[in-house]
Amino acid sequence: MLKGKHLIQPDDFTVEELEDIFTLADDIIKDPDKYLDVCKGKLLATLFYEPSTRTRFSFEAAMLRLGGGVFGFSEASSSSVSKGESIGDTIRTVSCYADIAVMRHPKEGAPKLASKYSDIPVINAGDGGHQHPTQTLTDLLTIRSYKKSFSNNVIGLCGDLKFGRTVHSLVKALSRYENIKFVFIAPPELEIPSYIIEELTNHEFYQTSNLEEAIPDLDILYMTRIQKERFFNEEEYLRLKGYYLLDNEKLMNAKKDMIILHPLPRVDEISTEVDNDPRAVYFNQAKYGMYVRMALILKLLGGDINVKN
Ligand code: NCD
Repeated sequence: MLKGKHLIQPDDFTVEELEDIFTLADDIIKDPDKYLDVCKGKLLATLFYEPSTRTRFSFEAAMLRLGGGVFGFSEASSSSVSKGESIGDTIRTVSCYADIAVMRHPKEGAPKLASKYSDIPVINAGDGGHQHPTQTLTDLLTIRSYKKSFSNNVIGLCGDLKFGRTVHSLVKALSRYENIKFVFIAPPELEIPSYIIEELTNHEFYQTSNLEEAIPDLDILYMTRIQKERFFNEEEYLRLKGYYLLDNEKLMNAKKDMIILHPLPRVDEISTEVDNDPRAVYFNQAKYGMYVRMALILKLLGGDINVKN
C-alpha cells in the first residue's frame, strides 16, 4: 500500500509498488477521462525553493487533470521562508491546508527533513545534487514503453554525472533490475560519485569521457546538461560547458533502435537537429512525466480511483 507514504528516494518504493504505479499510468494514458474527477476536493502544495519548469508544471497539470486543486510557491522569497521560517514549521503549516506536498530544495536532505514534520505525504522533487525520484519515475515509464523491459539494456549516461541528481536516482532505481550494463560518460571533473558506483555490485559498468566511442553499444542514451548552479567557480563551468554535443553525425554510429532521453532543460548538449530523429524521445518523456505523476498522486492519496471517498 502506497497510501500516505513519502517519496524521498527511488528505493522508498519496492519494484512491485513501482510496477503498480506504471500500470496505473498506462491506464490513465489509455483512458484519461475516467480519472477526470477522482481527486475532487483534494489539494496539492508545490513548495519550490529552486527553479523548475517540467517538474512543477507536470505536478500541477497532473493534479488539475485529476480534478484536484493546487497552491504553492515557485520561489522561496514569496513565502515566510524569507523571514527565516524553518522547513519543519513551513511543512507543518502546509499540512494543515493540503493533502499532499511536493518539495524542491537546493539542500540535500531538505525534503527528507520535511517528511519528519509532515502529516501528509511529501514528495522529493529534487534536493540539491542528490536525488530526483519523480524524474526517475518519468524515465522508467519512458524506458518501459519504448523498450518493454528494463533488463537486457546497455544504458549510457552522459554529461554532468557528479551533480546530476536525475542520474543518481535513475542508476539507483535501475540497479534493482537484472542484466543492465551502465556506461558512465563524463569529463574526469564530473564523474559519477563513488557512493553510486559502490552499489553496482551485481552489474557490469565502465567509465569513459568519450561519447563517440561509447555510442555504438548503447540501447539507451541519457544525456544531461552541465549543472551550472552547482559549480563553485564560473570559470570551471565555462570550461566544461560545451564538453558534449550530440548531433546527427554522432548518431550515425548508434543503433537504429537506441532511444535518447534527457530530463531537460537542454542547454547545448543536444543539437536541435536531433529533435527530428525518431530516436529522440525527450519531449515524449516530459509527457510521460505528467502521467506518472498523476498515478503517483493517486496512489499516495489512497487509491486508483475514487480517492475522494
Ligand atoms: C532536472 C533537475 O531539476 O534536476 N530537471 C528536471 O527536473 N526535469 C535536470 C536538470 O535541471 O538538469
